[in-house]
Amino acid sequence: MTTAPARGTQPLLHQKGQEVQPFGTVKQLPIGLSHDVRAYACQRLNRVLADTQMLYALYKKHHWLMRGPTFHQLHLLLDQHAEGQLAIVDLIAERVQSLGGVAVGDPRHAAEMTRVPRPPDGAEEVPVMLSRLLEAHETILADARDAARRVADLGDDGSNDLIVSEVVRTGETQVWFLAEHLVDTPLTRL
Ligand SMILES: [Fe+2]
Repeated sequence: MTTAPARGTQPLLHQKGQEVQPFGTVKQLPIGLSHDVRAYACQRLNRVLADTQMLYALYKKHHWLMRGPTFHQLHLLLDQHAEGQLAIVDLIAERVQSLGGVAVGDPRHAAEMTRVPRPPDGAEEVPVMLSRLLEAHETILADARDAARRVADLGDDGSNDLIVSEVVRTGETQVWFLAEHLVDTPLTRL
């Protein structure tokens, strides 16, 4: 004879419900910043977050598709940069949450919001892949600097610090490392 499991042990599966906080709204949190300032900061941070998620994905794609005589070096470098961007994704998302907002999480949602152009599904020439990464970085850097200034003007120093210290500074360093691969410097002279 089978007996039913004890009450409280059966997980309640297939739960459905209403969305409890729509995207784009902010709840009240006692951090000394007004609703409007937190809403604006979340909007700017979510844009940078969507773009950074696309940059992360672009790095992984090109990490996988890399080829040629410098394959190993670039394969490793692009993965290192991807890890750096993934860490920033988490920091921005948690900043949005700490401001009472809803971080863009689903990659399909991020893809709808981003200004980073979609690459072809196939492989491109190596310099084209590197250029594509540089252009994505520049899109993010220009927007991030503007966002940092505006949130600082509104008094949100925490978001300013995150954007400048993580998004801008890491992005600038990664651009340097990538751009140096696009200089035509033969190892020997003919
Ligand atoms: Fe890998």
